[in-house]
Amino acid sequence: MDSFEFNKFAGAVLFGVLVIFGVGQLSNILVHPTNPEQVAFPVPEIEGAAPTAVAETEEETISLGTLLAAADAGKGERVARKCTSCHTFDDGGANRVGPNLYGIMGDPKARTGGFSYSSALADMGGEWSIENMDAFLESPKGYVPGTKMAFAGLRKPTDRANLILYLRSLGDADMALPAPE
Ligand code: HEC
Repeated sequence: MDSFEFNKFAGAVLFGVLVIFGVGQLSNILVHPTNPEQVAFPVPEIEGAAPTAVAETEEETISLGTLLAAADAGKGERVARKCTSCHTFDDGGANRVGPNLYGIMGDPKARTGGFSYSSALADMGGEWSIENMDAFLESPKGYVPGTKMAFAGLRKPTDRANLILYLRSLGDADMALPAPE
């Protein structure tokens, strides 16, 4: 193919593109589609039609017992890295910004003498159960309004379940897990 033939060929392609583009533009100018605001035949909303919404509610309704039955303390130890800037987890570990957490499950809230807790947590009373630890880890400020623990919380139920299983594995009190549904 000599260069003259190539130019003819390229010209033809370019012309074709221009024609297609031009027709599109022209039809936009000539025809102004008016889309009616209302759908002529409204489609009734089918229950459960939106798969994303269903998935979200399903995650919410999985019981803590079921989540814990599938949880993994090893994964929980990895989640606990989010806490280690403020907490130690080993037996006799130091208090940092927050108190040592070894064997915390089943122990009284604000158990560590010498650590200066917020009065909100100190006055709360009760022990750290599976359920209230889950609520606290989801939203520390939601569960203990006025807490000093500056941590946003763990949004994912599976992260919390893994972490609770890890916390429970520390120390000797293997507290009973809620039954899976
Ligand atoms: C920015 C620092 C910080 C981070 C990060 C943090 N905490 Fe805390 N935590 C604290 C402080 C401070 C307190 C004391 C709260 C109070 O007195 O209100 C506390 C208290 C606690 C308590 C109550 C202890 C007791 O003796 O009753 C638990 C349980 C706890 N944290 C778990 C965690 C876990 C699990 C994580 C990680 C997911 C975490 N914290 C992340 C600072 C932190």
